[in-house]
Amino acid sequence: MKKRALITGVTGQDGSYLSKLLLEKGYEVYGIQRRSSTINTHRLDQILKDRTINKNFFLHYGDLSDGTNIVRLVSEIQPDEIYNLGAMSQVQISSDSPEYTANIDGVGALRVLEAIRICGLENKTKFYQASTSELFGKVTEVPQTEKTPFYPRSPYGVAKLYAHWITVNYREMYNLFACNGILFNHESPIRGEEFVTRKITKMVAKIFCGQQGVLSLGNLDTKRDWGYAKEYVEGMWLMLQQESPGDFILATGKSTSVRELVELVFRFIDIEIEWIGERGSLDEIGINKKTGKLLVNIDPRYYRNNEVDLLLGDPSKAKEILGWEAKMNVGELAYKMLRSDIDQINHNNKILNISNRIDAI
Ligand code: NAP
Ligand code: GDD
Repeated sequence: MKKRALITGVTGQDGSYLSKLLLEKGYEVYGIQRRSSTINTHRLDQILKDRTINKNFFLHYGDLSDGTNIVRLVSEIQPDEIYNLGAMSQVQISSDSPEYTANIDGVGALRVLEAIRICGLENKTKFYQASTSELFGKVTEVPQTEKTPFYPRSPYGVAKLYAHWITVNYREMYNLFACNGILFNHESPIRGEEFVTRKITKMVAKIFCGQQGVLSLGNLDTKRDWGYAKEYVEGMWLMLQQESPGDFILATGKSTSVRELVELVFRFIDIEIEWIGERGSLDEIGINKKTGKLLVNIDPRYYRNNEVDLLLGDPSKAKEILGWEAKMNVGELAYKMLRSDIDQINHNNKILNISNRIDAI
């Protein structure tokens, strides 16, 4: 019998990488997809078209707000592993929809855990919760470890805090094999375009391909620990393969500011950014040092009320127990994303070679 995995959030960045990984490992993968008026499966196209693996891949309509739907799917599929990746995952937007975020990101996890119990699968089904470094919020120590106190700074962080603790509680109350993966930011060429890394690589790709544009950003001086999503889903899987369940940080152990990332990505296309105006003010701009052309400005709409200033994870527990370690550094990751964004714009394959600029990392 093949192992069966059920994934919520299968159409997202991590859902698509995890599906591919599990299919390659010989699993049957069942994904919960939201009904939408536009097609939302583009990240799954590769899998859906690949005959060698798509026979083991099944999509079902559902929603984390719909408890009966989740119970029915868990009862029908009888999964060995459930990965709860579904979420309203944009931190800033969670302030516009705090109640929705609490319902999906917080209570949604409870619905999945209850479905396991209602179906009597406590001894069969292992559960992974997509927990987050946003829980550390206003950080109380640097770097953050599994023992660092939580101090979330957004409705997203607070909703995820509930999901984190209810997962720990179900583990302790019902002896469920339930793990929290406390993942620091992880990105890829299929990262959502409203996240800062992809926003930067997409705009720089446009500029490189001769299109007009200015990169409008918020706070340039926040720091994140950015890793590669494809490596992080392997860590999720490893958590569920251990003898006993636990909570693990996945991170690179290095952090970079948004400002440094902007400079790095422009350097790949041979542009050096010069910052003009008071550092950290709304008037600060970034220009092409050679030509004086405006390339970066600050838009207050992207500033956050309760900013999380610095995230830096200590991944030692994952290394020691899971044997997991991040391999790709932020420079290689940014290069990969930029290359992919250029290739998407440059359909005609005009020769736009940035490969010799990898040494800008
Ligand atoms: P993502 O690309 O935004 O994907 C989120 C997924 O959740 C999408 O498939 C989305 O469906 C689905 N979803 C949204 N609302 C839902 C609902 N009401 N019911 C069911 N599914 C719903 O996020 P990601 O980057 O892959 O992240 C995966 C998970 O890890 C999320 O829970 C996120 O909060 C967490 N996380 C991410 C990071 C990171 O840096 N990427 C770090 C820590 C934790 P649609 O495609 O229909 O929108
Ligand atoms: N999105 C965005 N857009 N962020 C900007 C911008 C901008 O124009 N300008 C500056 N930033 C700053 C944000 O203020 C934040 O400090 C940082 O860039 C990263 O923002 P995001 O890329 O939106 O990611 P995030 O850190 O808020 O959240 C992501 O990582 C979390 C884990 O730490 C998401 O994937 C969450 O779902 C995840 O839990």
